[in-house]
Amino acid sequence: MVRVLFLCLGNICRSPMAEALFTDKVQAAGLADKISIDSAGTGSWHIGERPHRGTQRILRENGIAYSGRARQITPADLTPETYIIAMDSSNINDLRRQVGAHDKVYRLLEFAANATLRDVPDPYYSGNFAQVFNLVDDGCRGLLAAIRQWENL
Ligand code: 4NP
Repeated sequence: MVRVLFLCLGNICRSPMAEALFTDKVQAAGLADKISIDSAGTGSWHIGERPHRGTQRILRENGIAYSGRARQITPADLTPETYIIAMDSSNINDLRRQVGAHDKVYRLLEFAANATLRDVPDPYYSGNFAQVFNLVDDGCRGLLAAIRQWENL
């Protein structure tokens, strides 16, 4: 089983959106039994909460389901089969400082075909959930193509 864990700061805006969009693409590709998908935050402020209402709204408007709640990343998440897909470079710095080193760590927008940005802007501050949705969708499409190639799926 390949494991993909999306990582952001609060686990209420960006990484739940990525988890939901990537799950939708993996299911459409018929790979749900091969790839397990989750998300977490580096911070602890929102543990147990549903996603931000901006994330819930843009997912609902696009017909993408999501039922998860926020949690904080732990050392147990860094298993060898896990790809950690961070939303921005500060998530990667926080991961290394708080949890430790891991081989398979990427930023989501490394996989985006159209984005010039390399960090997904935080809509908790910008309020621009539509921009984030388009960036995350682009990144998730490229991420699935890369994982299919790397893992022969
Ligand atoms: P996220 O956004 O990392 O995309 O979930 C944030 C959510 C909450 C906070 C910061 C960013 N916060 O400081 O509470």
